Amino acid sequence: MNPASNLVLVGPMGAGKTCVGRRMAERFGLRLVDADHEIERLAGTSINTIFEVEGEAGFRARESAVLAALLAQDGIVLSTGGGAVLDPDNRRRMRERGFVVHLVVSVEQQLARLARDRSRPLLARGDREQVLRDLSAHRAPLYAEVADLVFDTDAHDSAAAAELLAREL
Ligand code: S3P
Repeated sequence: MNPASNLVLVGPMGAGKTCVGRRMAERFGLRLVDADHEIERLAGTSINTIFEVEGEAGFRARESAVLAALLAQDGIVLSTGGGAVLDPDNRRRMRERGFVVHLVVSVEQQLARLARDRSRPLLARGDREQVLRDLSAHRAPLYAEVADLVFDTDAHDSAAAAELLAREL
C-alpha cells in the first residue's frame, strides 16, 4: 500500500470495518473516519431516522455525498457502510483514492455479531438471515470489483484481524 494513500474498508454489516479500521488507523498513524457516523453527524440524526423520513434513496444520496467529500482527503482509514459499493461513482472514487480492503464475513457470523443490533434499518425488512443472504448475493460482485485485497474476518477478533491484515499491506 502506498502510505500516502487512503485505506478504504468495504464489506457487509458486521464484517468489522469500524473495529478493524480503528486498529489499522492506530497502527499506521492515520485518522479513522466512519462514513455512517459522518452521515449521522451532518444530518443531526440517526440512520434509522434518515431511512424513515427519506427512504433508502435519501440515505444513499447522503452516503455518496459524504464519501465523495471524505475521499477527496488523504491519509485516512475510511470505514464505509455495507451498501457504499452500490453507487458506481463511489466505487470509482474508492479505487482512485484508496487501497481497498474487502472484509469478508459469513452470514452465520453476521447473525451472531448483529444479534442485539437495532441500528441497521435493512435488518428490519424481514427475516434477518434471508435479508443478509440476499444482500450478500447482490453485492458480492460489487465488493469484488473494488477490492485490492480480500480478508476473511470470521475467525478473528478485530485486534487479530488488524494484525494479520497489516502484514498483507
Ligand atoms: C447498510 C449498512 C450500514 C449502514 C446502513 C446501510 C447496508 O453500515 O450504512 O444501515 O446497506 O448494508 P454498516 O455496514 O457499517 O453496518
